[in-house]
Amino acid sequence: MEEIYRAMFEFVRAELAQPLCSAPQRRQFPFRDRYQHTRRVFGWAQRLLKEVPADPFLTLTAAIFHDSGFSRMPNDDHALASAELCRGYLARAGYDAHTISRVVYLVAMHSEKKRPLAELSDEMRVLIDADLLDEVGGLCVLWDSMDEGTSPVQSYEKTYRRLEKAYHTLNSKQDRMRTAPGLRIYQENLRMVRGFLDHLRYELCLDESD
Ligand SMILES: [Fe+2]
Repeated sequence: MEEIYRAMFEFVRAELAQPLCSAPQRRQFPFRDRYQHTRRVFGWAQRLLKEVPADPFLTLTAAIFHDSGFSRMPNDDHALASAELCRGYLARAGYDAHTISRVVYLVAMHSEKKRPLAELSDEMRVLIDADLLDEVGGLCVLWDSMDEGTSPVQSYEKTYRRLEKAYHTLNSKQDRMRTAPGLRIYQENLRMVRGFLDHLRYELCLDESD
């Protein structure tokens, strides 16, 4: 990874280590680490950038900062707080005003995922898709399975049924994807989960009648 991005990640890691990041939802799922999510969104963005003609610096910088404001402001208000942290960092690092305003806009608007496609720049489309691709495939299975492990009532079948629900929810949200490669990868991840669940159902003998 390039040094400029490494330094940004260090800043965001320190920011996300602040106490407010342990908001209730995060306490409920301690394995859903916000910093690790940011690393993965950066990784998804790098993959999408191989196929979408977006500006890499603007997109990847926005990916690094997009959730940094969760340290200051929980839930939907986090985007504006993230944008301000991003603005301050880039200004201190000496970037020009035009570059700063473009990155800050991406960060500030990244949560507004339902805007019409025509209103979105290629950078915004990649950022939105990279964010949505996290926790769709194997990580969706891990998330529900790990959380089921904290339930007082546990069974393989109960976990299987919860995963079916998660699969159907994710399957119904495909129209949120904003790039062709993003949609393709989203569907690949879902196909993997579908295959896993079909086999799990077979292993659990849920279709056998006696
Ligand atoms: Fe995010």
